[in-house]
Order: sequence, then structure tokens, then C-alpha cells
Amino acid sequence: MFSFKLVLECSRLFTFLNLGIMLIQSTFPLLTVFLIKELIDAVTFAQSSQQGATGNYVVLLVVFTGLVFFLNALADASRNYILQVQRQQFFDFIFEKIHQKTTSVNIEFFENDEYYNLFSRTLNNADKRPLDIVNNTFSFFQNSISIISLGILIISLHWAIFVLLALAALPLGYVQWRNTNKLYQWYKSHTRDERKIWDVNDVLTNAYFATEMRLFDLSSFFRKVFSSLRNKIRTGFFNISRQNLFLEGGAQLFTVLAIFSVLGLVSVQAAQGAFTVGVLAMFILAIQKGISLFTELFRNAARVYEDSLYVVYMIDFLNLKNKIPENKDGLNFPSPIQKGIVFKNVSFSYPNSSKKALDNISLEIPSGSTIALVGANGSGKSTLIKLLCRLYEANSGEILIDGTNIKDFSEIELRKNISALFQNFCRYNLTASENIWFGDTQKPVFDAEIRNAAKKAKVHELLKGLSKGYGTVLGKIYEDSQEVSVGEWQKIALARAFYKDSQVIILDEPSSAMDPETEYEIFKLFKEITKGKTSIMISHRLSTVKMADYIYVMEKERIVESGTHEQLLKSGGIYHSMFHKQSETFFEKGLI
Ligand SMILES: Nc1ncnc2c1ncn2[C@@H]1O[C@H](COP(=O)(O)OP(=O)(O)OP(=O)(O)O)[C@@H](O)[C@H]1O
Ligand SMILES: [Mg+2]
Repeated sequence: MFSFKLVLECSRLFTFLNLGIMLIQSTFPLLTVFLIKELIDAVTFAQSSQQGATGNYVVLLVVFTGLVFFLNALADASRNYILQVQRQQFFDFIFEKIHQKTTSVNIEFFENDEYYNLFSRTLNNADKRPLDIVNNTFSFFQNSISIISLGILIISLHWAIFVLLALAALPLGYVQWRNTNKLYQWYKSHTRDERKIWDVNDVLTNAYFATEMRLFDLSSFFRKVFSSLRNKIRTGFFNISRQNLFLEGGAQLFTVLAIFSVLGLVSVQAAQGAFTVGVLAMFILAIQKGISLFTELFRNAARVYEDSLYVVYMIDFLNLKNKIPENKDGLNFPSPIQKGIVFKNVSFSYPNSSKKALDNISLEIPSGSTIALVGANGSGKSTLIKLLCRLYEANSGEILIDGTNIKDFSEIELRKNISALFQNFCRYNLTASENIWFGDTQKPVFDAEIRNAAKKAKVHELLKGLSKGYGTVLGKIYEDSQEVSVGEWQKIALARAFYKDSQVIILDEPSSAMDPETEYEIFKLFKEITKGKTSIMISHRLSTVKMADYIYVMEKERIVESGTHEQLLKSGGIYHSMFHKQSETFFEKGLI
């Protein structure tokens, strides 16, 4: 039903058109058989009586038979055309649905093996299976109608012939059903291997890996992994196919024996004068057509069964429920934020991990202030801001903005008011302008604003100087595109974060790839850029952190120190020692 609903939703007109043609076509086999019988009888009669009048009837019959053949061919061609159009339409339709899902599921799904299995099974089967279910069901009914009409004819000869024909096709149906089940079980148990194959293929073909592939000579290792995985898949597939070949051969032999026994019997009866040559021809055609219709009918059933096994994955995928419920009708975000942001005893472990990533975190970010988070790798800094953006939900404790739990805000409102630059920022192979405008696509493209954001991130001069200025496509993969350096990409991503006129701005390691001079230039003006905004900055560079109003030091999932730069230096704790270790290096380089 799911497939029918989807296909109808996608193209109602073509589906009904297909159904109509199929109904008309289902009468053709009986019509053809009948016309040929009439034709042979008329010819035989004309031969014996030599009457001219019968000649006209023969011509008329030939014309009619030809017309039925032509209409049948026309119907085939039309259905083929409809199928092609439907395939294209359905592809777009289903991918729109898949993309809606992939862009709205909670981030934690992307860290879950089962999600990837489900996703990969959906992706491999999405564009064809539902449509095939509908078409094979139609064909099933078409063949059923044809069989019933031909069946009445065959039963008029002898009912047992009809039963024998159905039985003759049965073993083939069983073999197909068995093969479907085997392939499905095998597919289900090998999805992970198939995924690995495509992951390894990615490593072998993607530009991202190309440098290390050569530098560390990794190609033969990954090629071996690829070929051994393929070997496993291929062998399993061949085994099933081989078994199927033998069984199908046996079933076909059975079918042929059954048909020819029936034909033998009917021919003997005709020879004994039980009926005319025309009637004999009609039965031969009906029997031959009948068996191929039965075979086709079982094949349709097997395919519908097969496709519905795979469509279950799509249903599961499209019905995935987010663990963090979308709160569309929640409260509006305070504008402006009066008091600020408060983390109250927040603890969190990542899904599928028993280890705590945040342990009883409490901190305050007064409205309009800048706080900094510092601490060793893995201490939980990025996790903390992901919770604030509601990419994950805290296991316990509360995150409040002006006293309201962020769960109570509408998600759209919350995200609209937060701008962020994450450590793993994205690089879009699009124009420089678009890369910045993506910070807030709700705003119409204002070149002046885009330039202004670029100026704040100290990347304006670079972008202006590109071959097509801000209109230059960035990256290397398209003609006319221009690649920029890692630090320059980071500046563009920072401009994107600045472009969004949000009340809260979060910067996670915004300058990790920047040269110290640019970093200094940007953060010298940071107060001015973030004027009126509440900002959170994460950085390992304490020269940047220094300008924050308040600093929280994290260690092993907890906040261990907090205070202003001066207070923390005086207290002689972790911050003090971190600062002095960095200062030594930077003093040596003459940077501070
Ligand atoms: N997606 C994830 N799934 C499971 N565990 C994670 C995930 N991301 C981070 N962790 C774990 O959570 C802990 C905190 O990670 P987090 O990324 O917050 O550290 P961080 O302080 O930002 O480190 P860095 O300075 O390296 O950016 C780490 O122990 C890490 O292993
Ligand atoms: Mg981090």
C-alpha cells in the first residue's frame, strides 16, 4: 500500500493511464487466439469450397488480426514510455523525500551503524522498487484477466488441461520465490560489507585522500581491501545464482514436458477428427500463451514479493523518529536577550557511549558578554556548544536562555538566533559570495553585507582579487573554479558566521588555521564585531582567549577553573600554567 500511495502521490495521471492500457491489453491474448482460429478455419473452408465470398472474410480477419497486433505493440510502446517518464519523475520525487529526511534527522543518527545500514538499503532500492511493485501488480492483474479469459477457452476443451498448465508453471514460480528469499537474506547480511566497499572506493577515488594515498603509498593496501570485500560478495552471489540456475533448469524441463504432453494429447484428438484445424491451432496457441502467462504471473508475484521486502527498509527510513522532538510551536526567542545563557548542572554522554562527555557543567554567559572555553583536547568544549545549538540533548540538567529552557523554544527560532563556526566547518564548491551568504539565506543577497562580513574576517582583499571576484567558484573540481588555502577557507567560514545577524555567536577554534597576524587583526576588532551579541569562543590560543570577559577552563568533562584572564593568571592554576607555556613559545617567536 505504501508503494501505491507513493506512486500515486508522485504521478496520478500516468498511473491511471497505465492501468487503463493494461486493462485493454489484457483482452488481447484471447482476441488474438480467437481471430487466428477464425482465420485458419476460414482459409480451410475457402480451400475446400473455393468460394470468393469467403475470400473477403479472410482479408477482413487478416486486417483485424493485424490491427490487434498493432494495438498490442502500440500499448507496449505507450506503457514503456509511461514507465520511462514515471521512472524519472519518481526518482526526483523519492530523492526529495530522502533529502528531507537526511537533512532533518538528529545528528546522532549519523553516528549510528544501523542508521547507515538502513540508509544504504534505502538508497539502493528507493528509485525503482515502489514503482516496480505497482507495475508488477498491474501486470499481475493483466495476466490474471488474460488467463481467466483463455482459461474459459481451455476448460471448454478439458478442465484438466487448465489445471495441468497451472501446475506446470508452479515449480518455476517456487524456484523464483526461493531465489528471491535467498538473495534478500544474503543482501541483508552483507549490507555492512557493501557499505565498506563504497567507503574504501571513496578513499581510493576521493581528492580528500589523494595526497596521503601517494605520500604513504596506501593504494595497494586499500585496493586489496576492496578486492577482498568484492571477492566475498561475488562468491556469495555466484553461489546463489548457480543453485538457482540448476533449479530453474529443472523447473523449465518440467514445464516443457507438461506442455508437450498436453499438446500431444490434443493433436492426437484432432487427428482423430474431434475438431477442425482452426480449433487445433487455437488450442495450441491458447496452451502456449496460457503457460507463458502463468509463468509471467508467478514472476510478477515473485517480483512484488521481492520488492516489498526491500521497500520495508524505505518505510523504516522515512518513518525514522527523531529523539529530539522538533518544537515548531514553541516559545519565541527573547529579543533582545535580557539576562543571558545559563548551563545548570548539565551532564551528557554521546549516544552509544557510556563515557560522560560533560559532567555536571554549570556556567553563565551574561547577555552581551564574551566568554571563552579553554582546555585540553577531548575535555568537552565542542560538546557543550553542540548542546546549546540543540544538536544533542543533555541527559540531565538544564540550558536556560533568560530563564527559559532551550527545549521550550521553537527550534527554528533558536537556530535563527544563533550563529556558529564549528571546528569542522564546510567548504562549498560554489561562489565566494554564496559561501558567505549561506550564513543567512533568509536575507536577500546584499553584496555590501557580504563584503562587510568578509572584511570583518579579513578575507575581503583575497576574494576581491580572485579572477571573478566574489563570483568566483571556490575549490578545484569545476572549470573556472579557484582553490584557496585552508586558512583562507577558515576565514570565509568565519565571514559566514559574521554574516548572520544573530544575537548569539559561537566560534569553535575560529583561527586554528590562521596565521597569528591575521588572528590578531581579527580579534583586535572582535569586541566591535560582536557588539551587543552574546558570544562564546573556544580556542587553544590564549592570546585570543585573553580578550574574553570571562574564561572557563575545562578538564576531563568538567569546569575546573573560571575567572577573568587576570584572575586566572593570579590564581596560579591550570590556566596560569597553560598561558605561560604558550607565552614562552610565542615570546621566542616574538609574537606577543
Ligand atoms: N560524536 C561523538 N560520539 C561519541 N563521542 C564523542 C563524539 N564527539 C566527541 N566525543 C567524545 O566526547 C569527548 C569530548 O569531545 P569534544 O569534541 O567536546 O572535545 P573538545 O574539548 O572540543 O576537544 P578539541 O579541543 O579536540 O576540539 C571526547 O572524549 C570525545 O571522544
Ligand atoms: Mg572541539
